[in-house]
This record gives sequence, C-alpha cells and structure tokens, in this order.
Amino acid sequence: MKTIDELGAVDGKRVFVRADLNVPLSGDTITDDGRIRAVAPTIAKLLERGAKVIVASHLGRPKGEPDPQFSLAPVAVRLGEILGKPVAFATDTVGDSAKATVAALADGEVTLLENLRFNAGETSKDDAERGAFADQLAALADLYVGDGFGAVHRKHASVYDLPARLPHAVGDLIATEVAVLKRLTEEVARPYVVVLGGSKVSDKVGVIDNLLGKADRILIGGGMAYTFLAAQGHEVGISLLQKDQIPTVLEYLERAKKNGVEFVLPVDIAVSATFPDLKTKAPVADFEIVDADKIPADKEGLDIGPKSRALFAEKLADAATVFWNGPVGVFEHPEFANGTKAVAQALLATDAFTVVGGGDSAAAVRILGFDETKFGHISTGGGASLEYLEGKTLPGLAALEG
Ligand code: 3PG
Repeated sequence: MKTIDELGAVDGKRVFVRADLNVPLSGDTITDDGRIRAVAPTIAKLLERGAKVIVASHLGRPKGEPDPQFSLAPVAVRLGEILGKPVAFATDTVGDSAKATVAALADGEVTLLENLRFNAGETSKDDAERGAFADQLAALADLYVGDGFGAVHRKHASVYDLPARLPHAVGDLIATEVAVLKRLTEEVARPYVVVLGGSKVSDKVGVIDNLLGKADRILIGGGMAYTFLAAQGHEVGISLLQKDQIPTVLEYLERAKKNGVEFVLPVDIAVSATFPDLKTKAPVADFEIVDADKIPADKEGLDIGPKSRALFAEKLADAATVFWNGPVGVFEHPEFANGTKAVAQALLATDAFTVVGGGDSAAAVRILGFDETKFGHISTGGGASLEYLEGKTLPGLAALEG
C-alpha cells in the first residue's frame, strides 16, 4: 500500500478522502467526536501540502435517499472547529452542490460532501450500480486517499470501487489501525486477554471462533453474556437472549476447554424489571444485584455486578495484551455503568498493550471521562476491527493494495 507521502505532489490536486465520520448524534449534537478527531491529521496534512480536499463519509443507515436526520451538516461544523478552518458543506454527493463546491475550492481548502448513503449506489449489491456511482465520485477528484477505517469491511462504492478509478494511497489513520491490529494477530505478547461485550452474540461469533485459537482468556459481559449463562442452564429472566446461538456457544465452551482457553463469565448481575430511561437517567426503583445463576424470572440483566468487576479486574491484571470490544453493561445510564468503568480501569491498571475496539466501547471510554491517551490504542473501527481479527479480507483494505 502506498502512503500519503508516496502519493507524489498533491498541491493543486483534488484529493478525495474517504473518512468514517459516522459519529453518534443526539439530534444535531455530536455526542462523541472521536472519529472526526482521528482523521483530522490526514486532512490537515493534505491541506498543508496545498491539496483541494474533498472529504466524504456515510452516517447511519439511511435508505439510499436523502434523510435529514442522517445529514453530515453538524459534522462539517465540528470538522471545521478541529481543523481550525472553514469546511464548505456540499448538500449532495455528486449533484450540482458537490460539483459547484469542489469547483470553488482553492488550494488548501476543504469541503465535506453530504452523506454518501443518500445515494443508493453507495451500498448497492449490484456491481454496475455501485460502479456508476463510483464513476460520478471519481469525476470530482484527481487522487484518492482511503482513511475510513471503520468502513473498510464494507464493499461500498466509495470504499471499494472508487480507489480502482483513481491513483490512491492509504491514509495515516488506516495505516495506524492496521499496524495495531497486526500486534494482536502476529507474535502477540501473552497473556492475551480479550473482553467482549455488547448486545448480541451473533455479532461476535466469527471473532470468538478465531480467538479460540489465539487468546489465552476471554471475558464475556454485556447483553451477550446472558446467552452464555443460558447455555450453562441458568435462568436469565427477561434478559437479552439469542436462543438460536446456544448450540454455537456450547461448542465454543467445549472447544475452549480443549484449547486451554479460559472463558470467564459474570458471577453476579445488576438487574431491573424495567429498562432504564437513558434520557432522564432517572434511578431505577427495583435495581438489585443478584448472583448470575439467580436472575429473577421477571427481571433483566443490565450490567455485571461488583463480584464480577473484581473477577474481571483480576483476570486482566497479568495481561500483556488486551483487546476490548463492547461495553459490559448499559453504560449510558449511571446505575449500569459500573461494569464498563471497571473494565476501563482494569485496562489502565495493567502494563499491557491495550486496544479498545471501536464503536460503543470507544465512545464509552470517552463518555465515562477516561483519558483516551492512557490506552494503547482506541480504534475507530467496531465491525472493521472485529472482521480484521476474524482473519477476513476487508474490501476497503484490499482495494488500497497495489
Ligand atoms: C461503524 O460504525 O461500524 C461504521 O461506520 C460502519 O457502519 P455500518 O455498520 O452502518 O456500515
């Protein structure tokens, strides 16, 4: 892969930067700007070298047509604040606004296009439809820089088809992310401890399968833990449960035993009969801590309990490498944030190389007020880092080869 530095002179050139600016929003307010800050140095570097930079990204999952709730307009404002210069916002992707905004760029100026997924060609499964959109995007630019790490697992027009149409390079963010993930797959320092949370086992099936041959210890929390507890024959009340995943989970527990991989499940759980209100954050009246094998039939598990927090901390203490993906509780509510806080604290307390894998867990670390510079690496890729660790070929990385 060619780096930006190997791309040749960029002054006066229109450089298309595919970023992942898919940030969490509450109305128009960005609740975590980590992904914007992560790609800003690449954009700044190109601007300093006199490029006309065209930034593009997706946001959320609109249905292939404009949908104001998924507009990137608030992101343009924040990107401008971070870069310290105005970001011209094009109100479409390849239409009159994009063409005019790009044509008006002087050297060292930057524009952000509207959400790429407002065009059905971006995510189409049809090669020709995707290709046609990529052709339109290619007409806007002279060079392509791929730096949207969070989207490299998507075979989308701007990620996969566009680099084939323009001289291209890998951006600094993707280069860093890949270097870090290599440390988790090649000659990993041991003990290698993995913490997996989040709501669904089905999202993590591939990565667990792969980690059973690589990790020394796997700690399970979050909504997915209840399928593991159910597989062990425990009552899980009205907790999240993926019954269809129980056979897979049982097979994993069996294989872990054979491979000498230690599986660690929560031993106590914070439960409630009602899901907490994440807006008002009002206390939950019937909150209680119960042993993991005694979840009442009318309650759901929403966080790991204090004994589990201590257990997880102990299992992380001697780690040399840690990968953490997914919060272990409903961290958006203060009553159920303790487990996720404890995992973050345990990571900070080790001497290990710690990697927080994207999405919710990265946002959790920042929203809960931890200093992100104290972690080895906070990835901008949720699904992308998981698929990398599964050993899959990622379309957006393959497209940047050669
Ligand atoms: C993410 O948030 O994981 C990336 O931005 C990809 O988003 P997607 O899952 O909607 O493709």
